[in-house]
Amino acid sequence: MAADPGPETAARRPARGTARTPVRLAPPMDLDALIADPATRIVVCCGSGGVGKTTTSAALALAAAEAGRTVVVLTIDPARRLAQSLGLEELDNEPRRVDVPGADGELHAMMLDMKRTFDDIVAAHSTPERAEQILANPFYQSLSSSFAGTQEYMAMEKLGQLRASDQWDLIIVDTPPSRSALDFLDAPNKMSRFLDGTMIRLLMAPSRAGFKFASAGFLLFSRIVSKILGGQLLRDISAFVAALDTMFGGFRERAMATYELLRRPGTWFVVVATPEPDALREASYFVDRLSSEGMPLAGLVLNRTHPPATTALSATRAEGAAEEVAETAAEGAELAAAALRVHAERMQLAAREQHLADRFTSAHPEVPVRTVPAAAGDVHDLAGLRVMGEALTGPDADTPTGTPRTRVLPARRG
Ligand SMILES: Nc1ncnc2c1ncn2[C@@H]1O[C@H](COP(=O)(O)OP(=O)(O)O)[C@@H](O)[C@H]1O
Ligand SMILES: [Mg+2]
Repeated sequence: MAADPGPETAARRPARGTARTPVRLAPPMDLDALIADPATRIVVCCGSGGVGKTTTSAALALAAAEAGRTVVVLTIDPARRLAQSLGLEELDNEPRRVDVPGADGELHAMMLDMKRTFDDIVAAHSTPERAEQILANPFYQSLSSSFAGTQEYMAMEKLGQLRASDQWDLIIVDTPPSRSALDFLDAPNKMSRFLDGTMIRLLMAPSRAGFKFASAGFLLFSRIVSKILGGQLLRDISAFVAALDTMFGGFRERAMATYELLRRPGTWFVVVATPEPDALREASYFVDRLSSEGMPLAGLVLNRTHPPATTALSATRAEGAAEEVAETAAEGAELAAAALRVHAERMQLAAREQHLADRFTSAHPEVPVRTVPAAAGDVHDLAGLRVMGEALTGPDADTPTGTPRTRVLPARRG
C-alpha cells in the first residue's frame, strides 16, 4: 500500500569535503495508487492554517475523478475564487456536481455550512415541537454558529453522513482552519464533554422534574453563575440543555462513531505543511498524534516549495559568477548578473527548505513525503488544480529537474 514505508530510508554518506551529518531519505508517497485504490474510501487532509489543505483536497479529488472514481470533496473554507470555479457560489450544504470534461469518474464538491448541519441534527433527533424550541433558543443559535469546536465537530458529523449515504466511492475531507491542527481530532470529544459537562448538568438541574432538593451549595453556585452570565443567558442555556437532554446519548454516540470511522481501514490521513518551522512543528505533532491514536497516515505533503530550475550551479558559484559578469560591463551583463543572483537566492531558499524537510524526516523517518512546488500564482481553477494534482500524484522520479518528488534538492551522495 502507498503508505508502506519501503526500504528506501537510507543513511547517505556526507558529501566529500563537508562535515554534514548523513541525510535520511524520506520514503516516497504514492498518492496516485492511494486515490485509485477502490479500498480507499476516505482521505482527510489536515495541517495548520494556510498551508494548502483546501487546495490539496480539491486537487486530489479532481485527480481521483479523472482516475475514474466517484468523488465528493467536503471543503470547509475554500478561498472565494476556488469555490467559484468548483461551482460553490452559495452554501447549500449538499454536494454539487462539478463539470470535469473528459473525466472517467465524477467530481462533486460541497462547502460545509456548520449551522445548517447542526440544525439538521436537531431536526433529525427530536420531535418537531422540541426541534422548534431548540432552534429558536438564543443560546443554541450562538453555540451553533460560533462555539469554538462547532465547526470541527460539524465537519466530522457531515463526514459521517456522507459515508453513511454510500453514494461515494471516495470522500476527500478538508479540515477547518483551526488554531491547531489537533483541534479537528479533539472536536467530537470536546463537544460531547461540553454538552455533557458538569456545569451544564448543574445549570439544568432545577428544570428537571425529578430534581427537588437542590443543595444550598448549588443554589449559591447557580446564583453566582447567574450574576456573571446574566439571568437570561442562564435560562436560555437551561432550556436548551433540557430540550437537548434526549440527544445527549446521540451526540456522544455519533462522535464516537465518526471517530471510529477515521480509524477504519480505507481511511487515510494526509498531513499538509509548508516548508516553514511552525507548519512543520504542527505537522510533527499531528503525525505523533495520529500514530498514538492508531490512525493511518499516508504521509506528509510539503506544499509550496521552491526548487531551483537547475541544481548544477551552486549558490556560491552563481554569486561569484554574477560578480564577474557584472564587472565586464559588457552588453547584457547586468541582466545576466541579475539572473545569476536570482538563481543564487533560489538555491539558498531551497537549501533552507530542504534542511527543514530533512529535520522532519530525521524525526519521523517512516513518514513518506511528497513535495509540491509553489505555483506562480494562486491555485483557483481546474487547470491550476490539475497542475497541483500532477505534482501530488505524478511518478516520484519524473520531474523536469530530475530531483525526486520526495525532495526539494537532490540528496547529497558520497
Ligand atoms: N502549491 C501552491 N502554489 C501556489 N499557491 C498555493 C499552493 N497551494 C496553495 N496555494 C494558495 O495558498 C492559499 C492557501 O491555500 P488553502 O488551500 O486555502 O490553505 P488552507 O486550506 O490550508 O488554509 C490559497 O490562496 C491557495 O491558492
Ligand atoms: Mg482551508
